[in-house]
Amino acid sequence: MVASQHELASKIGVEVMKRGGNAVDAAIAVGIALAVVYPEAGNIGGGGFMVIRFKDGRTRAIDYREMAPAAAHRDIFVDRDGNVIRGEGGSTIGYRASGVPGTIAGFEMALAKFGSGKLKWRDLIEPSIPLANDGYVLSHRLASLAEAYKEHLSKYPDSNRIFLNNGKFFKEGDLFKQPELGATLKRIADKGPREFYEGETAKMIAADMKANNGLITLEDLKNYKAKERAPIRGTYRGHEIISMPPPSSGGIVMLQVLNMLEAWDIAAMGHNSAAKYHVLTEASRRAFADRAEYMADPDFADVPTVGLISKEYAAGRRKGIDLKKASTSQQIKFGEVAVSEGQDTTHYTVVDPEGNVVSNTYTINDLYGSRVTIKGTGVLMNDEMDDFAARPGMPNLFGLVQGERNKVEGGKRPLSSMTPTIVLRKDGSVWFAVGARGGPRIISAVMQTVINVIDHGMNIQQAIDSPRIHQQWLPDQVLHEPYGLSPDTIDILRGYGHKLADRPGNIASATGIMIGADGVRYGAIDSRSDGAAVGF
Ligand code: DON
Repeated sequence: MVASQHELASKIGVEVMKRGGNAVDAAIAVGIALAVVYPEAGNIGGGGFMVIRFKDGRTRAIDYREMAPAAAHRDIFVDRDGNVIRGEGGSTIGYRASGVPGTIAGFEMALAKFGSGKLKWRDLIEPSIPLANDGYVLSHRLASLAEAYKEHLSKYPDSNRIFLNNGKFFKEGDLFKQPELGATLKRIADKGPREFYEGETAKMIAADMKANNGLITLEDLKNYKAKERAPIRGTYRGHEIISMPPPSSGGIVMLQVLNMLEAWDIAAMGHNSAAKYHVLTEASRRAFADRAEYMADPDFADVPTVGLISKEYAAGRRKGIDLKKASTSQQIKFGEVAVSEGQDTTHYTVVDPEGNVVSNTYTINDLYGSRVTIKGTGVLMNDEMDDFAARPGMPNLFGLVQGERNKVEGGKRPLSSMTPTIVLRKDGSVWFAVGARGGPRIISAVMQTVINVIDHGMNIQQAIDSPRIHQQWLPDQVLHEPYGLSPDTIDILRGYGHKLADRPGNIASATGIMIGADGVRYGAIDSRSDGAAVGF
């Protein structure tokens, strides 16, 4: 089964498995397809993380996060007066917002190391080429989404032509074609993954960057490397949790919160109760404070992963939580962890017939990324540079305040919140896999899905759909969802001293697959979003 945010992509993954491919082969094909049919987030101009659990119990993680171009440095997004340069020409919009894309290199590594060996690179790219060349029928959602992003998409000629129909826009039912992207995919299919980094596509990226004051050079593209990392592992009430380590904060923050919550009987508190949301908020506040201080690219900064996810550390952090009174984020600082241990957006899930599982989240950061489509390639670029601390202490696009460790440096990967996760039953078999999109809210969505299944006994669809909350230390507020909290619950939480967001809004969107004890696969797409789980 494949659960992704577009039915056409899920179907392509299923076809790959029908031809004998494994979950990794299928995940690569789905990722390429989403770049065509889910262009606001699916990508070859961005990066992400793939967590794999093989039938025999081996687990692996591939880090294909974008890298800052070599010319980037700590103050690249700070003006003379010390203000952060965001928006056009800064960390979120335009050519300078992009890190060097990692998606193609990540898929190259995944195929070489973990593919079935039965299908070739070309076999995984080719199914998406007709979708780009001949087009697909636009949904209402995608047609209106592009228009909603017209302010900046319209400023970049290729983005304006491709996504906005030169200002005439598209409507539901139109056939949406991306011939330049089709041609790029064909080059990559014919010449192999290095084409993107060293061939004609690379040259087109470097030339367009140069012409527009961007930083990415041919050298940067050539030097990009995907990395294999040891997945982060922990437990919640005896169930093993496998997730993404740094440069994502997702796995650590989730495990920290789950470790703190383990001491309480969350099931007895009840799913949507004030008691549960109080402790969840307090635990999240503490874990996100640690995120801001300690987490970054582990190749550039010491990240005390083992200390942060230890049960002992959680026990100490938990002690400060008063069960009837909220703390403030101003009071809560990062905890004391021994540093220097000397160790080292869109989500989709694939389960193959053998039971191998891939949990993959990749992104171009904001919807439509930097809004720049590289001239002649159809490749929409990321604005992942904004995930660095543009100026330590100042909030980014998601309001995250981050520290020195996550400052901009050439060749470094920005800290992420993506949380592709796999959860095992107590007997060691795979129970479910889940991930989400939504910046730091990803972590809240994934961990509450885990809590909903393990503590509240929900199935995967209920666990993903149920209301959730989000607290990320700063700003000091609790986000909540429409129809999520009753007025009574809000009153109790306010009574404890929590600051609730003025207006409710959706918190992230998740997809996942659960495997029943009898082996049946149950796919789930968040009702906050769209997509399809396709099985065979
Ligand atoms: O890596 C991260 O944490 C972010 N760049 C993810 C962005 C995201 O989920 C976009 N969602 N709406």
